[in-house]
Amino acid sequence: MAPQILVEKTKLKTPPLEVHHMGDRVLRQPAKRVSKVDDSLRTLIREMLQTMYSEDGIGLAAPQIGLNKQLLVIDIDPEEASNKPLVMVNPVIKSFSKELALDQEGCLSIPGVFLDVKRPEAIEVAFKDETGRPRKLKVNDILARVIQHEMDHLNGVLFVDRVANKVALTQELKKQGFKVGDVKSLV
Ligand code: NI
Repeated sequence: MAPQILVEKTKLKTPPLEVHHMGDRVLRQPAKRVSKVDDSLRTLIREMLQTMYSEDGIGLAAPQIGLNKQLLVIDIDPEEASNKPLVMVNPVIKSFSKELALDQEGCLSIPGVFLDVKRPEAIEVAFKDETGRPRKLKVNDILARVIQHEMDHLNGVLFVDRVANKVALTQELKKQGFKVGDVKSLV
């Protein structure tokens, strides 16, 4: 049996990892495949989860903590102790729904900025979990959105790159002290 990762969903005064903010080049570098799911990776996963819970996030990708690894953690129900977090190593999206959905997103790397993003409503994703076991999931709604958002980080893409409303985008970024020139618009 591969070891379970048990992390308390509490806010630490000093989270183990530092989250990089937009404007930092590490967020724009594509991540590399993880070759081995071992104890050192599980230590990193534990620290990413502790950092995510401490910062009030529902997802965190390795590039956000300055590591170019194809690794992300997600918990869309961080208040619920019994809800197990999702760990994805080398995730690949196998299919997208034709149907799109518009909803608000935020990001620990762009604190204070919340804007609408249009994305496929449902996806099928293949990945390895924290034990190294290959898995496949069909998901929709908020979980599909969070997975796509976190997987964008693995390609150096930030959610603000996908915001269509440029007026709101400019306004929000300026309000929170971010540079509009750091957006690499895809829409
Ligand atoms: Ni993000």
